[in-house]
Amino acid sequence: MEQTEVMKPETLEELIKTLHKLFESDSVNVEEVQNIMESYESKPHEWMKYAKFDQYRYTRNLVNEGNGKFNLMILCWGEGHGSSIHDHTDSHCFLKLLQGQLKETLFDWPDRTLQGGMLQRSQQVLLENQCAYINDSLGLHRVENVSHTETAISLHLYSPPFQTCRTFDQRTGHHNSVKMTFWSKFGERTPYESTVSQENN
Ligand SMILES: [Fe+2]
Repeated sequence: MEQTEVMKPETLEELIKTLHKLFESDSVNVEEVQNIMESYESKPHEWMKYAKFDQYRYTRNLVNEGNGKFNLMILCWGEGHGSSIHDHTDSHCFLKLLQGQLKETLFDWPDRTLQGGMLQRSQQVLLENQCAYINDSLGLHRVENVSHTETAISLHLYSPPFQTCRTFDQRTGHHNSVKMTFWSKFGERTPYESTVSQENN
C-alpha cells in the first residue's frame, strides 16, 4: 500500500482540489478522506454562497461533482430539522460539520423478526469540524439538528454519487425508495419543478 502525505487544506477550494486527487484512483482510503475533511477548518465566508435554508425541512445544495467520482454537497438544517432513517445505496458517505451540531443515530438493518421497532445501536453528537463516516455495511442512520435555537450546516461527500436511497420506518422496518433532489446547485437555486420530491439522506 502506498501512503501519501496530504497537506491540510486551508480553504474549501483547496479541500475540493485534494478530494479530486484522492478520488482519482478507484480505491478509496476512508481514513485518509475522513482525516482530510476533518482537518479543514470551516470558514463561513468560503461556503456561505451554498448555504441556503428552507423553513420546513433541511436542504441539499450541490457544491462539486467530483469529476463523476463523488458528489460534494452542503446540507442546511433549520432548528429541529432531521432526516428519516436511510441507507447510502452502497456508497461511501462522509459527513463534516461546518457549523453547529448534529446528532447521528445508528441503526441495525431491520430483519424479519423485528419486534418493538428498529434497533438503535448508538448515538453521537457531531461537533463543528468533526467528520463522521458511514456505509451500508456499518448500518443505517438518522441525522438530526436537535437544537431549538441554532441552525446546523454540514458538508457531505458521497462516492460514487447516487440519486436514490431508501428510507425506513422505525416502527415497522418497511422501506421506501426516494429520489434525492438539490435545493441549489453551485450556489444557484434549482428551478421549482425539479425540487418537488421527498427525502432524503
Ligand atoms: Fe446519511
